[in-house]
Amino acid sequence: MITLNVNIDHIATIRNARGGVEPDPIYAAFIAEQAGATGIVTHLREDRRHIKDRDLYLLKETVQSKLDLEMAANEEIIQIALKVIPDLVTIVPEKRQELTTEGGLDIRKNRENLKKLCYLMHEKGIEVSLFIDPDEMQIEESILVGADMVELHTGTYANAKKEKDIIEQYKSLTEAALFAHNGGLSIAAGHGLNYFNTHLICKIPQIKELSIGHSIISRAAFTGLQVAVKDMLEIIQKNLK
Ligand code: PXP
Repeated sequence: MITLNVNIDHIATIRNARGGVEPDPIYAAFIAEQAGATGIVTHLREDRRHIKDRDLYLLKETVQSKLDLEMAANEEIIQIALKVIPDLVTIVPEKRQELTTEGGLDIRKNRENLKKLCYLMHEKGIEVSLFIDPDEMQIEESILVGADMVELHTGTYANAKKEKDIIEQYKSLTEAALFAHNGGLSIAAGHGLNYFNTHLICKIPQIKELSIGHSIISRAAFTGLQVAVKDMLEIIQKNLK
């Protein structure tokens, strides 16, 4: 069984374009859950370019499924997470200039920080997922720092155009999922997944959660969010191994 966690950040991006109150990401989370999403993902960035603190606090009150807070291992955001207590935090690298999260974490470089972060989150009952490239060394490091889960970065797979590159990237994801599973980690996948490339990811049996934002919110502009979420759920259900 693979669950679908819907990232609603881009609803906030549209809201912020006019600095007003609509569309409200809280309402988007509600609709996504009503359509069958089993989790809501939101990234409180250091620069607050989409989700604001107010959104996060309200999501904590209103999300009935699972709240996954994507965040950098940054002291200010860590303190907010410890106050809000989402179900899961997904730790990502964050650069101010990037359009979206660009790559996985370098865990070895941030080992001590991440160890402390895992300890603090676990003390509050919050699970920790680390967003990493499909790389055995990063998986071993994730186990060492005490993570519960890794989210495998699917961006390179999603951006591959040539068949040979797609096959190569898919193989890395398949091997990494097995390696992480054998190491006792739960496994999620995300970034760049859409209505054309998600089916193959569903066939990797160790992957239990998908985190998808851009493609679902983009489709929602034409179909409505409920239909966009249901369409993705249909792909997942059809392709489960
Ligand atoms: N997972 C992580 C860790 C991300 O940073 C993002 C982008 O916010 C996603 C999943 C969702 O990616 P996309 O918007 O391309 O579906």
